[in-house]
Amino acid sequence: MPHKPTLAIVTGASRGLGHALSAALLADGARVIGMARGHMALAINDRFIACTIDLTDSAASVIALETALSALNAQDFNAVTLINNAGTVAPIALADQLPAASVADAVALNLTTPIALTSAFLRLTAHWPGLRRILNISSGAAHTAYPGWSVYGASKAGLDHFSRCVAHEQAQRESPAHNPAHIVSLAPGVIDTDMQTHIRNTPAADFPLRERFVALKAEGQLQSPEAAARSILSYLDHPDFGHETVVDIRQL
Ligand SMILES: NC(=O)c1ccc[n+]([C@@H]2O[C@H](COP(=O)([O-])OP(=O)(O)OC[C@H]3O[C@@H](n4cnc5c(N)ncnc54)[C@H](OP(=O)(O)O)[C@@H]3O)[C@@H](O)[C@H]2O)c1
Repeated sequence: MPHKPTLAIVTGASRGLGHALSAALLADGARVIGMARGHMALAINDRFIACTIDLTDSAASVIALETALSALNAQDFNAVTLINNAGTVAPIALADQLPAASVADAVALNLTTPIALTSAFLRLTAHWPGLRRILNISSGAAHTAYPGWSVYGASKAGLDHFSRCVAHEQAQRESPAHNPAHIVSLAPGVIDTDMQTHIRNTPAADFPLRERFVALKAEGQLQSPEAAARSILSYLDHPDFGHETVVDIRQL
């Protein structure tokens, strides 16, 4: 009998880390459902399903996930993984200058929709026989207070804590039929993506630590998205995945 593939749902599959994760998963033989607003240049692969969606709309995002999963058969996969990767560092501004509409969008993208998708994923895959994993892409900013990144840091700290609660619930559920999902919220390190360009282009008045990030780029200290994706996926496949819920890949 041929080896069954993994199914992965990757948000933010159009650019940056999410694109690199999706490309690496496809190269490893997985089927991938990618979710983003923009064009996902991976659609050329017949194992890639592109789902064009604005992830600030949490309800629509859940419906899109339900629709995509309902077209697939649980028995065809040996594992199913949700990767909540899409995120934004905007708005970058000191707290007395935050535009309310951008705050709402950032919290929706970085926190509300990952929570809603995790909830839907747990429900929709409850009877899937294979390994069930959730990987939330967090940030060191969840632990370190960077002036100008209060919304970003707060939303990532929320994602970390949500993940801790889910891990606890999954471990506590007592039922012989229960196939517990493994969940990790992972800080990936600094990666050379559009997000870093946006950070370097922010005025120092809004982000006083801007020069530190300009220097990281100038000194060649940013990881490529491809290298970051490979380290993250090797951690995802490690038997210890889920033993610790909140991790920083630089400390593994
Ligand atoms: N880069 C870093 O140094 C770094 C460091 C720590 C953590 N992270 C985290 O890593 C993750 C990926 O970041 P990145 O650097 O790859 O960012 P990026 O290059 O800015 O890419 C962001 C991705 O999210 C998608 N996205 C943004 N807004 C969206 C929306 N409203 N609806 C749907 N999709 C949306 C984008 O697609 P569309 O625009 O096509 O919709 C894109 O695919 C984020 O969670 C970020 O917080 C990054």
